[in-house]
Amino acid sequence: MTENRPRIVVTRKIAEPALAVLREVGDVWFPEPDRALSPGELHTAIAGADAIVSTLHDRVDAAFADAAGPQVKVIATVAVGYDNADVAALTDRGIVFTNTPGVLTDATADLAFGLLLVVTRRLGEGERLLRARTPWSFNLGFMLGSGLQGKTLGIVGLGQIGQAVARRALAFGMDIAYSGRRRVPGEVENALQARYLPFEELLHTADVLSLHCPLTPETRHLIDATALASMKPSAFLINTTRGPVVDEAALADALADGVIAGAGLDVFEKEPEVHPRLLELDNVALAPHLGSATVETRTAMAMLAARNVAAVLTGGDPLTPVKG
Ligand code: DGY
Repeated sequence: MTENRPRIVVTRKIAEPALAVLREVGDVWFPEPDRALSPGELHTAIAGADAIVSTLHDRVDAAFADAAGPQVKVIATVAVGYDNADVAALTDRGIVFTNTPGVLTDATADLAFGLLLVVTRRLGEGERLLRARTPWSFNLGFMLGSGLQGKTLGIVGLGQIGQAVARRALAFGMDIAYSGRRRVPGEVENALQARYLPFEELLHTADVLSLHCPLTPETRHLIDATALASMKPSAFLINTTRGPVVDEAALADALADGVIAGAGLDVFEKEPEVHPRLLELDNVALAPHLGSATVETRTAMAMLAARNVAAVLTGGDPLTPVKG
């Protein structure tokens, strides 16, 4: 008897344990072999679904909800960021929307700190030099990078991931400053020895500026040519949040002209494209959106999304709803 079982569409394949959770409450469909569906294919695939597990590259808006149909109860994105979703449009239609906060905090902070080390210590540049079989020899001035101890890490958005990056930076002997929509509670500031600064002042102060704010209309191109010009010429920019928070063309200019010293980027304005000029520069470390890309974390994200779906389909409350 499968005709009354809910239909669950998973837009990109997720970890097997999470599929098992979904199979307990419904009939599960996902594209096999796994691939990104075109918007048209996506809308066809979700038609008639009672629940949808989506990813950050699906445009989850009113048209998406309407393509699914009035029976759809829950859309669970396997991501913490949800700038791809029009949550108000979903809420208006009575659809529960959930994300995956918490479970990817450490993995993303690790990746941000990894990029920070790669670019400040010129590890990518060094590896490229060796792989190109460029002649080299150790000398006391060879490939000098920038040390971190006593330097200031400026964090834009001291939420869960920003705080996890701050903890790593503290262990490296860095000072922590931050800006954001609001100050964090005093006990968090104290634990991280973090001082709040207005955004403009953070730009002037930071030796490394790490972005952890969500992408919103207010943060789109937050780091533009003007912001970059306010940074120290010796400063580094790290972006592991969303590409459009940075004006990539302005960043490429700033990196080429020595306006700032370097950048570490895990996210891009027009993923999967990377601004071609960034690819030519040695003072930028690049990763293909790997922030949460560990087996453990992606499994935990998928499990949380699946549990959200299971909760809603069985009449319970979602674990991590996003309010519209
Ligand atoms: C997110 O969760 O928002 C990341 O960008 C992907 O893991």
